[in-house]
Amino acid sequence: MTTILSAEELATIEAGYDPIASRSWSINARCYIDPKFQDIEREQIFHRSWQFLCHEEKLREDGSYIAADIEGQSIVATRDTTGKLRAFYNVCKHRGHELVKGEGKLNRITCPYHAWTYELNGSLKAARHSEKIENFNKSEICLDQVQIETFCHLVFINLDPNATPLAEQSGDLAKEVMSYAPDLGQLTFAHRLTYKINANWKSVVDNFLECYHCPVAHKDFVSLVEMDTYKVKTHGIYSSHMAKAGQTNNNAYSIDDAICTDHAVWFLWPNMTLMRYPGRGNFMVWRFYPAGPEETYEVFDFFFETAEPNEAEIEALKFIDDVLQPEDIGLVESVQRGMQTPAFRQGRYMVDSEESGLSEHAVHHFHGLVLDAYAKAVEEN
Ligand code: FES
Ligand SMILES: [Fe+2]
Repeated sequence: MTTILSAEELATIEAGYDPIASRSWSINARCYIDPKFQDIEREQIFHRSWQFLCHEEKLREDGSYIAADIEGQSIVATRDTTGKLRAFYNVCKHRGHELVKGEGKLNRITCPYHAWTYELNGSLKAARHSEKIENFNKSEICLDQVQIETFCHLVFINLDPNATPLAEQSGDLAKEVMSYAPDLGQLTFAHRLTYKINANWKSVVDNFLECYHCPVAHKDFVSLVEMDTYKVKTHGIYSSHMAKAGQTNNNAYSIDDAICTDHAVWFLWPNMTLMRYPGRGNFMVWRFYPAGPEETYEVFDFFFETAEPNEAEIEALKFIDDVLQPEDIGLVESVQRGMQTPAFRQGRYMVDSEESGLSEHAVHHFHGLVLDAYAKAVEEN
């Protein structure tokens, strides 16, 4: 079922938005509070974009599997016995029961309801008593496949069978990421932080896409990052946010032995940031999921050289959890309350032609992608 968005509703949301950021107004706050937009975004954005699943380490061995929820759809990814990576709806073809939970290794997938058994390539291997059933052709039954792709040693899923590969959609992103994090394939999952926030997911993304607020709201962070080197570039479905970082006398966390001295952040449409921070070899994948029209669930995964964070990494995690996140959550929840009043519908983007860390052109870029997705909903009416 497709949620209908009328051309008039779209016109309200995009009134004042201009392809040139310095002339443009932001998109209308209505799409941050009206529950209708959650359905439109699920269909047009989350079910048609590449969504992070896990580091490739979880699916390295033949027979490995991992189950996950991709915006309300249960999915299982496997490395089958021939070494091919696959993903399916985690749904049995008999009566629709969920097949597996969690992660691990398997020879076959057995449904916990009536024990139909599937090969890891999705084909039905056995269905109890089926030999007594007329016209029951096992070879015609297979789990429904979804797209899966390894990109920069990270595994992504796309529920849209017609989606073009992430590597193709994302231009030079892989080259950029691998030049900053050549060790990404050897890193291992070390920690996860999760948060529930009372704000629309787009408010949370908006806040991540600009550092105009950093000198005001993140006093310790701006002692770690050299703001005068900060550059923001937008490209297709991603933007990059780069700065030199790692003054040893900063107030955020100690980085005495750092091998990385950059703050390297990429926003990848629609809902994630890929990051490398000052410290040992490290990488982070942070995601922002709509938990409701005005609620966001954040999942931050940390990949380090060892599964056990070292002392400096524990300090960095503590800085994110105790300082940076409370600062940002306070900001976006306040913005959400403002959007609930009649006093705020749109604002201007503070941009500069140097594409500095104080410029908000990446927020404008993100809003353009949101409007493109809404326009598709209108087209499909
Ligand atoms: S629902 Fe899976 S075997 Fe019956
Ligand atoms: Fe912030």
